[in-house]
Amino acid sequence: MEKQRGSFTNKLGFVLAAAGSAVGLGNLWRFPYLAAKHGGGVFLLVYLILAVTFGFALMVTEIAIGRKTHLSAVGAFEKLNRKCGFIGYLACLVPFIITPYYCVIGGWVLKYFTVFVTNQVSEAASDEFFTSFITQPAAPVIFFVIYASATMVIVMLGVEKGIEKASRLMMPLLVVMTVVISVFGLMQPGAVDGLIYYLKPDFGRFSATTVLAAMGQLFYSMSLAMGIMITYGSYMKKEASLEKSVRQIEIFDTGIAFMAGLMIIPAVFAFSGGSEEALGKGPSLMFITLPKVFDSMKLGTVIGAVFFLLVLFAALTSSISLAETLVSIVMDKLGWTRKKTCVLILIFILAIGIPVSLGFGIWSFIAPFGMSLLDFFDFVSNSVLMPIVAILTCIFVGFVIKPKAIIDEVEINGKFGIKKFYSVMIKYIAPVFLAAILIFAVMEAMGIIIV
Ligand code: PFF
Repeated sequence: MEKQRGSFTNKLGFVLAAAGSAVGLGNLWRFPYLAAKHGGGVFLLVYLILAVTFGFALMVTEIAIGRKTHLSAVGAFEKLNRKCGFIGYLACLVPFIITPYYCVIGGWVLKYFTVFVTNQVSEAASDEFFTSFITQPAAPVIFFVIYASATMVIVMLGVEKGIEKASRLMMPLLVVMTVVISVFGLMQPGAVDGLIYYLKPDFGRFSATTVLAAMGQLFYSMSLAMGIMITYGSYMKKEASLEKSVRQIEIFDTGIAFMAGLMIIPAVFAFSGGSEEALGKGPSLMFITLPKVFDSMKLGTVIGAVFFLLVLFAALTSSISLAETLVSIVMDKLGWTRKKTCVLILIFILAIGIPVSLGFGIWSFIAPFGMSLLDFFDFVSNSVLMPIVAILTCIFVGFVIKPKAIIDEVEINGKFGIKKFYSVMIKYIAPVFLAAILIFAVMEAMGIIIV
């Protein structure tokens, strides 16, 4: 499909659009449960260090590749070197793995929104509510199907602009809400211990798993190593400062993740006692902890309903951009119409997502490497594929097109302050480090290392 490539009319437009894709369930749902599980403060510290080093270098690289070539992932790698198009293909695989399970979680958020709207807050605050919901055969599947279909209908009608506009209004509101909920949570007895757990690194809890989890989260949250930022970069104007834009997106994305942790982790201590078991709840943490907070709040039902509505919007903008990516990859390859492609993608999402949802209940016997299906897909994309794509991208830039190609692109507007650091990072530090954590991840999953 030949289409004039537009560009963002102003600098803020680019930052907001990229941030809209970056901020989603990764920040609100995934970051807090990982931080809780992997030692609180030490995870936060490792994450921040990785964000300003690896995250920064990789995001600059991806956006620069996109802006330089005006193409999305596959075309961009191919254009820069004919033999390297496969890196683009590999990157495109990632959204195919993430989208179905992203929509399963989206379905959970939708369920919680309806729970608060129908005033069942005290039921939702009980310990068993969430587990009994996700283990049912029909209910979570129905919410997932509704959520996934809504996402695809929006993509099919091409009305994401409306949703994006709405979410641009909702995003600041979401920030305000996280602040209000955090302050309320912090005022509860016991919450201060949670605050300390979250902010004070306990180096005794540091392990390779902490780094692995933080790295996977970084890719996921910033939409890196999956071709997305290359596409966004391809729409970026040459006049806008690339370095500054990356910094702004990173600050925004990390800021929201930090606030989500502040909202959830102290509340785990206040309402569930902060035991290892309570902290290690994994993907269910947000859904177990927040209803307890809302239940103890005045006007908690209304606040909870508004909150889950805002989360729903943040999730929708992300799943729309994920689904849109899948649709454009398939449309370009097969030359199908948009409508036909959307139907195919929806069938694909349902075919993978339904087993993921059932994996918590009647299909829990399917447990590859001892993980639930959701954890398995999450592991394959975040701990295996994304590091591989990132390593290949670093080698590609470091030794095929050379860091100078990226530095020149960044320097079209202004000096790239840390170009020495960038070169060393992309050539040596990042690939070696990434390879080490990738090997560790695979060995851990295969039971060769027990942590
Ligand atoms: N970065 C998003 C999040 O943190 O929720 C996930 C995501 C959205 C990844 C959109 C990729 C994407 F295209």
